[in-house]
Amino acid sequence: MLIEKIKPIVLEASQLMVHSGFDVKQKGDATNLVTSSDLAVQHFLVKRLAEILPGSGFLCEEEDLGDIRHEYVWIIDPIDGTANYARGIDHCCISVALAHNGEVIEGVVYSPWRNEMYWAVKGSGAYLNDSPIRVSDRPFKDGLFCTAMSTYRKEFAKYCSDIIYDIFMRSNDTRRFGSAAIELCMMAAGKLELYFEMRLQPWDYAAASLILSEAGGVSCGFDGGPLSLSKASMTLAANNKDNLEELLSTVHRYLPELPY
Ligand code: IPD
Ligand code: CA
Ligand code: CA
Repeated sequence: MLIEKIKPIVLEASQLMVHSGFDVKQKGDATNLVTSSDLAVQHFLVKRLAEILPGSGFLCEEEDLGDIRHEYVWIIDPIDGTANYARGIDHCCISVALAHNGEVIEGVVYSPWRNEMYWAVKGSGAYLNDSPIRVSDRPFKDGLFCTAMSTYRKEFAKYCSDIIYDIFMRSNDTRRFGSAAIELCMMAAGKLELYFEMRLQPWDYAAASLILSEAGGVSCGFDGGPLSLSKASMTLAANNKDNLEELLSTVHRYLPELPY
């Protein structure tokens, strides 16, 4: 099975996520960082994944690598949680998804400093290392809510704060760990229940959204439809449909239209 070839390649790539001695640069604005490790991991993955699936395309965060006009496309965030990585905070991971004709069929999210590998194959369940995982059955009022304030587009932060305040007041508590992929996988493992981010990219959620759905969870964009694999999307996710609908209707109360 392909997943058994992807997992060791991701493990090998993670050796490039060293604890020190990497360069950090800003991309665009001061909050958006790229390290020499992001680039090294991406280069390694592109080379090795192309070898196991010749002719496949790649959509990757760094260096504008985006050629999705292929039957099979790898969607890669070489390091999700780069700001954490650059500071030595262990919430960071490699995220690799494989899409077939526009649908994610395999996904791996590996957090090397915690040695946690979340993975899924469409139709075969979701796993953390060797153990099957499942979302929790907590209702909205007991839900742990994971979110962020639109880090790279601060002009949307006021909408986020209104939405976050509203959900916070009706749920258990909020968290912001700094890696969307890990957060969605934590939901898949039953550790949190509610998720909202104003604007994420396909590489942030492609692998993790498959892992979440294989664990019984649900996700959607602003229009309630599936998360886009070709452009930035608002990202809502929950442990069940009722909680997702509650999140979506809360967002629509503050935002009649998507502001981008
Ligand atoms: C970011 C992380 C973060 C989320 C940002 C993402 P990056 O990815 O997933 O949790 O809040 O929106 O862009 O830049 O570390 O790959
Ligand atoms: Ca990311
Ligand atoms: Ca990244």
